[in-house]
Amino acid sequence: MRERLLGLLEDSDDRFVSGELLSRQLGVSRTAVWKQIRKLEDEGYTIEASRKLGYRLRGRPDQLTLPGLLTKLRTETFGKRIKLLDAVDSTQNVAQQLAEEGAPEGTLVIAEQQLHGRGRMGRSWISPKGKGVWMSFILRPSIPLPFTPQLTLLAAVALCRSLRRLTGLDIGIKWPNDLLVGGKKISGILLESSAEEERLKYVIAGVGISLNLDASDYSPDMLAKAVSLKLAAGRPFDRSETIAEFLHEFEELYRLYGQAGFDPIRTLWEALSVSIGKPCVLTTPQGLVIEGSPVGLAETGALLVKREGGKVVPVFSADMGMTQERDQPADRVQ
Ligand code: BTN
Repeated sequence: MRERLLGLLEDSDDRFVSGELLSRQLGVSRTAVWKQIRKLEDEGYTIEASRKLGYRLRGRPDQLTLPGLLTKLRTETFGKRIKLLDAVDSTQNVAQQLAEEGAPEGTLVIAEQQLHGRGRMGRSWISPKGKGVWMSFILRPSIPLPFTPQLTLLAAVALCRSLRRLTGLDIGIKWPNDLLVGGKKISGILLESSAEEERLKYVIAGVGISLNLDASDYSPDMLAKAVSLKLAAGRPFDRSETIAEFLHEFEELYRLYGQAGFDPIRTLWEALSVSIGKPCVLTTPQGLVIEGSPVGLAETGALLVKREGGKVVPVFSADMGMTQERDQPADRVQ
């Protein structure tokens, strides 16, 4: 009954279908039709009801499907194997399990919802159902272990460039890989690597994009620091298209990185950075506090910070607080 009712509504495009016609075609009472309409609304369909005219389909739930994704993907490696899940604790865990089982580079795990999404520095990551992109993919790069942070920066550049193109918003990168609009965070990247005897085995790249979250999805505290692309742009975005755009950009940059090394990625990152030249306070995982102004990236991917007195020190991992947030990149790169 559900499928046939949906079919009838879909077939009538933008026109109303009377309750009487629906009940006749489906061979059920008008009350039964109404109950089924309510169930469809609960699933996320928007159905306009008029006493005189009947029912009209106005919107479908934003459900990720494999065929829907595959028609949008333009990549060779990334997303060639996809695991699409409903609710998971964290896509990082699923991707890690697959990597341990030998899954190839590019294997992608996407979830509609994460129950325990995790962020950098042991923080949690809110991932409400159907409202964002919550995904992790496997990398198996042949690079020395100390170069792993370069991949974080590469992922940030790919995400920034693809989201700027998709949304038209002025998005900048706060070191190392937070994307900001108007000083507020719109996405996060988490890279977790596995190594054996100083050799990199694989990296799990986790990407969270707060695409279509509403203000009610955030706590008041979070709203001061974070925003969704829908809230920032005033319109929702298609999740499959967003995933496809990002993976395409990532694959291109990853290939460039394999051929030309980190230099071109560093140039792109620096141009999109909102951190360079801004006084900041960095707190390392060991609790060391460094104050200064970032001047650029080192070859390893470390942030070069100029301290008072002029000494420049490399910082590999830290939480950055900017004395003043700036959301415009130094140069515009599209
Ligand atoms: C951060 O900014 O702190 C990083 C957030 C990373 C969130 C993504 S969502 C998909 C993947 N699964 C997780 O549990 N985390 C990453």
